[in-house]
Amino acid sequence: MCGIIGYIGTKKAKPILINGLLRLEYRGYDSAGIATIENDGIKVVKEKGRIANLNSIEEINTLEGTIGIGHTRWATHGKPSAENSHPHYDNTNTFAVVHNGIIENYHELRKLLEDKGYTFFSDTDTEVIPNLISYYYKKEKDFLKSVKKACDDLKGSFALEILCKDYPDNMIVVRQDSPLVIGKGLNENYISSDIPAILSFTKDFYFLNDREFAVLSRKNIEFYDNDLNKIEKPIKSIEWNTASAEKDGYDDFMLKEIYEQPNAIRETIGSKLSEDKISFNDFSISKEYLQSLNKLYIVACGTAMNAGYTVKNTFESLCKIPVEVEIASEFRYKDPLVDEKTLCIFISQSGETADTIAALKLAKEKGAKTLAMANVIGSSITREADYCIYTHAGPEIAVASTKAYTSQVVLLNILALYFAEVLDTVSKKEISKLKEELLELPKKAELALRTVAEIKNFSSIVYKETDMFFLGRGLDYYSALEASLKLKEISYIHSEAYAAGELKHGPIALIENDVTVIGIITNPLLVEKTVSNMQEVITRGAKTLVITNQELNNSQFFKVINIPKTEPCFAPVLSIIPLQLLSYYISKAKGLDVDKPRNLAKSVTVE
Ligand code: AGP
Repeated sequence: MCGIIGYIGTKKAKPILINGLLRLEYRGYDSAGIATIENDGIKVVKEKGRIANLNSIEEINTLEGTIGIGHTRWATHGKPSAENSHPHYDNTNTFAVVHNGIIENYHELRKLLEDKGYTFFSDTDTEVIPNLISYYYKKEKDFLKSVKKACDDLKGSFALEILCKDYPDNMIVVRQDSPLVIGKGLNENYISSDIPAILSFTKDFYFLNDREFAVLSRKNIEFYDNDLNKIEKPIKSIEWNTASAEKDGYDDFMLKEIYEQPNAIRETIGSKLSEDKISFNDFSISKEYLQSLNKLYIVACGTAMNAGYTVKNTFESLCKIPVEVEIASEFRYKDPLVDEKTLCIFISQSGETADTIAALKLAKEKGAKTLAMANVIGSSITREADYCIYTHAGPEIAVASTKAYTSQVVLLNILALYFAEVLDTVSKKEISKLKEELLELPKKAELALRTVAEIKNFSSIVYKETDMFFLGRGLDYYSALEASLKLKEISYIHSEAYAAGELKHGPIALIENDVTVIGIITNPLLVEKTVSNMQEVITRGAKTLVITNQELNNSQFFKVINIPKTEPCFAPVLSIIPLQLLSYYISKAKGLDVDKPRNLAKSVTVE
């Protein structure tokens, strides 16, 4: 999705903005632009395509200003073109605006402004914003008041950075349902859509709530609520180090993040489990409250939802509470059976996914308590929820989620254990056994990474395929869903995941000679069942890969890759690792851009 960056300080803004935009590249974009305030007013330079295109425009080298805004655009309204790129001016070139989000009522606002004599030069929804501000500025003669009045007219989502040529020492930012962070430096301040892009400049951040305004100068930041009353905001220090947002010698962020998993899992466990005791400093929950629940709802999108699936059975068997797992974009548009007896858990790496946030707001309206699980500190979802817990995966830059997924699975399991402990629904012996095994997971994840050579070899055999199938039973089915999603995302190979028992109810019709079928077999109780499903596809000529921690008759399969044994509830953490590597190496073999797959964005901040 669109990325925004801003700088106000004593240094030249242009290189800082370009550097920030490069760091936001992973969010996905099709055009880019920057604006700075120069001695003779605001200068905008923008171009379709990559940041390199923008940087090759001669005019960009004339920008000397020390205050500026920048944007990477992911087209929603209007095709990718220089005209549709941000920043956008108003008709008098007094204001320049960059915007992330969607203005839902832009048609009517544009009409209203056109009737008043304003001209539009792009097809975007954004261009109404600088013109609306300009319209109010004629009467108000005040930057902040005009921005506030314009925002009152906007329906939809927005994170805005605004420059005004009459206020060369200020920048105003405001947000509504779109991400924006403010980084505090010494005599300089930064704006970004997310933390990693400005992590090399500062570790101190402010987070705006919806409809809060910040007026930035070089030394100060003033905050205002929606009625323009001055407010105080707490500053938060972020522990992530700069190296964690760099490739660090790896070819791609995705590969680096796959290899960071043992540590991400270790950090996530370490944050909650010490000396055999699970404690959530971030929240506590009473036995009475948990006993009052008749349902847990787990709601998320994409990979985060796949993480949710992997713990449904575990929560149910350990805590004896029914669990529903639902796609956020479905949950938000139905009438979910949710009330004060439901605890809704929302999982999101970024904490900025529009559908997940909307689903959370709906659950709250319906009286449920909400628990957010996020990776990004201070992200929107963490500020909306009643309770909040964090995975400790560090910044995840690659579009395809890897270390966030395994950290989510681990943290959800810890949460299930914690609830079971509070509820007293499982014997102490069973809990201790699971805790002991949990502590073994980082080491076992390291062992799972050692499958890399075999996986690389298998990738070189199958990378030209056009279809693949993933099969599994129980939790292995959910791992199959995640493996299939990874493959689609970065290799553009069509793939399907099925609960292995469903095979003969339809999908087996697609199996023919040489089709690749990947089976995941980790649950000792289900081994025979899945093996017999795999035999059904072998009979029909399929090329089979099996990921397993069980002893099988290997000769029946084309290839078997062994991963370490663990408790069945933790198996998804390990079985996904070779399959992440598989999609990575297939993508590389096809010569694709692994970190920035086509049409995808890292955080999906619009519907
Ligand atoms: C993961 O590989 C995907 N890029 C995508 O499915 C992602 O998990 C989804 O958009 C949810 O993102 P979130 O965790 O930031 O909410």
